Amino acid sequence: MDKFIIDGGRSLKGTITISGSKNASLPILLSTLLTQEICTIHQVPVSRDINTTIRLLEYLGKKVERLGHSIKVSPRRPLKTYAPYDLVKQMRASVLVAGPLLARFKKVRVPLPGGCAIGLRPINIHLEGFKALGASVSYQKGDVILKANRLKGASIKLPFPSVGATENLLMSSVLIPGRTRIQNAAREPEIVDLADFLNRMGAKIRGAGKSVIHIVGVKELHGAWHAVIPDRIEVGTFLIACSATGGDLILEGTCPEHVGALLKKLKACGAVLDIFPNRIRIRMKSRPRTIGEIKTEVFPGFPTDLQAPWMTLMCFSRQGRCRIQENIFEKRFMHAAELARMGAQISVAPPPAGEAKSAPSRRSVGGGVDGTTVVVHGTGHLYGAPVMASDIRAGAALIVAGLAARGRTEISRVYHIDRGYEKIEEKLQGVGARIKRVKE
Ligand code: EPZ
Repeated sequence: MDKFIIDGGRSLKGTITISGSKNASLPILLSTLLTQEICTIHQVPVSRDINTTIRLLEYLGKKVERLGHSIKVSPRRPLKTYAPYDLVKQMRASVLVAGPLLARFKKVRVPLPGGCAIGLRPINIHLEGFKALGASVSYQKGDVILKANRLKGASIKLPFPSVGATENLLMSSVLIPGRTRIQNAAREPEIVDLADFLNRMGAKIRGAGKSVIHIVGVKELHGAWHAVIPDRIEVGTFLIACSATGGDLILEGTCPEHVGALLKKLKACGAVLDIFPNRIRIRMKSRPRTIGEIKTEVFPGFPTDLQAPWMTLMCFSRQGRCRIQENIFEKRFMHAAELARMGAQISVAPPPAGEAKSAPSRRSVGGGVDGTTVVVHGTGHLYGAPVMASDIRAGAALIVAGLAARGRTEISRVYHIDRGYEKIEEKLQGVGARIKRVKE
């Protein structure tokens, strides 16, 4: 296993080219299961999760060729309708094979993905949606089995705007005769990108990016090509890193409108931002000012995937306290303990006074949590230490901490980080960071 060794205290100066979005690439690649024809997807990042997705497509029967950042998916043999546990357990997003395979073959067997470091991650919203479309759901030895004699269009109201459930239901409904409506749909840019690709394949989807998506089923989908949107979480990670270390960083190949909520908070912290159509420049001269409160929300709110790096940034504010309320995942604070090893002062906050104790947890309606909150007390600095990544974004938070800390930080289990960031250490080396990858 690899680890990163970071000697902190250097500001970031230069230009980084952003990779394509991991969270858009995964559903788009898996949606090629909906057609027998050739599809080519461009701007796909080189990362572990993409490699797992390629292995999954090959297992199911597709021929997959990677040509740099482009991936060509062609038919090879009749598709299997069962996803293997050893791939699903490595990447929960494998559950997104359910939608396409159910749509084409009216049956699919997928191992229940199980939880991960950030929460239980159930798929009840996916399954309720499939039932509404006419599928039966049964369970056997840890697998969920979906079957349907006939799928029919339906109006589905999601109890929570789940990204994965919206993607799975989009992919299953594009081949169902009649009309399907998904209400309270997720509005993330990755949903819009998936819908754009499906429409290029001949699907009839309207309203992606809004809360109500309309689909008119078609008989079949043809092959198509697509260029994936930039990775907004990679953009946010580098912007936060520069805010912590100080410096002058240009990010090329971005969609600034995908990170609006973050840009607002960074400006309030004292960052100087120049925004262009597909480029963001950030300059930061001094330590960040403290922001009183951050609440993670569904898009277009502050993204849960940037909560961990943000927590690191607040450790470097000179004074004051930042309340961070995590409303999407129920235990996305594993990074706090690792930051504390570097000298961070982070405490679990009681619910704000006046907030009804009996406020029903959104989990009871499926999705979201009741707003677990921590308070970061800005001390202005952290000290390098050996720490351990527990998931993709917790790992990113530790990289930000190591870059801005005094002294040397060693981050183990960087395979978590490699799942969602393409060559992050090389990109950071290119802008002056002292970070290297070594064999553990
Ligand atoms: C996607 O996960 C992303 N992953 C996550 O990014 C991201 O954090 C998340 O959306 C929220 O934006 C990919 O796109 C591959 P959800 P997903 O369904 O689809 C609960 C990263 O670091 N829920 O919107 O799993 C769930 O437990 C990853 O790149 C149910 O209760 O997110 C969570 O509390 C981490 N039942 C909340 O809803 C369900 O059936 C949001 O989940 C589905 C979800």
